[in-house]
Amino acid sequence: MLYPLMRPLLFKMDAETAHEQTLKLLDIGHKLRLSQLGFRPAVRHPVQAMGLTFPNAVGLAAGLDKNGAHIDALAPMGFGFIEIGTITPRPQDGNPKPRMFRLPEHEGIINRMGFNNLGVDVLLENVRNCKFKGILGINIGKNAVTPIENAVDDYLICLDKVYPCASYVAVNISSPNTKNLRQLQQGDELEKLLAALKARQQALADQHGRYVPLAVKIAPDLDDEQVAAIAQLLTRHGIDGVIATNTTLSRSEVAGHPRAEEAGGLSGAPVRERSTRLIRKLAKELDGSLPIIGVGGILSGADAVEKLEAGAALVQIYSGMVYRGPELVADCSQAIARHLQTKARN
Ligand SMILES: Cc1cc2nc3c(=O)[nH]c(=O)nc-3n(C[C@H](O)[C@H](O)[C@H](O)COP(=O)(O)O)c2cc1C
Repeated sequence: MLYPLMRPLLFKMDAETAHEQTLKLLDIGHKLRLSQLGFRPAVRHPVQAMGLTFPNAVGLAAGLDKNGAHIDALAPMGFGFIEIGTITPRPQDGNPKPRMFRLPEHEGIINRMGFNNLGVDVLLENVRNCKFKGILGINIGKNAVTPIENAVDDYLICLDKVYPCASYVAVNISSPNTKNLRQLQQGDELEKLLAALKARQQALADQHGRYVPLAVKIAPDLDDEQVAAIAQLLTRHGIDGVIATNTTLSRSEVAGHPRAEEAGGLSGAPVRERSTRLIRKLAKELDGSLPIIGVGGILSGADAVEKLEAGAALVQIYSGMVYRGPELVADCSQAIARHLQTKARN
């Protein structure tokens, strides 16, 4: 309710400063127990996916709370699940600032953060200290200094460490801001990564007596042939879910904007159609063999329903939170619940 009043002030600040200030304010509000008063409750409409029961289908996408330092302050917004990260084995600064830009005329964001994070050990400390009991995804990646040939090692280090604390683990191979990372989405490299992750998941499940699903996060810039190949590999390796999509390298939707040529990934409204198109193709290829978490350009309840109609079981939001505020969670959960009820009746 407060967000429409705060937004003009926040938009006067540099995007990353506004992000940090908003999280600080949320933490203060949470400590003063104001958060319950401020947020419209999400609609409870449970969804089963990846062997988990999500209280509603609307999740927070990775990147907003990279270190898992704000989980308890974000939870009262009503998310059905929260994904933290991307986290890497060792802390790293990310790219030089400025590295996050709003394109308000398009309701878009360009970012080239480069996995700035405090490292997996700090994230785990934060998770152990938080009170949140809902579904927590932990998104893992590789350090910038790790050669791409050794990327598997970084993913396994993170998987080993986060496994006991995660409801699911998201494997990010689609950030455009870590050199050559997207190469891992292809053929032999993807095959090698998935085989290693799956073997380790099985060993960890035996060790901890608990199966934690793995979801792979992919880019919106894949062609139909690549989507088909990825779908086949994910199914063959028994991966539990797929998150589609990350940010796009395309600028066609924002051509001519003064910020359009900033390096990085574009998110928000300009990626919506591209992401939905990919989800539709992916759903056709997967034919129900694993669930899709649809993300990219959701700025309204109708946008969330569009992702479900394309084949997603769950959705996530990031940029929409910047442009619409926390109300978007309730809007999306309400629209999805209505959509699913209508579908069940027909
Ligand atoms: C500033 C920023 C940082 C992000 N950082 C990450 C990240 O660390 N890991 C990741 O998997 N996705 C990251 N993303 C991508 C989002 O999770 C999401 O996939 C993408 O932005 C599309 O959704 P949206 O249009 O709702 O923002 C980031 C996005 C933004 C805008």
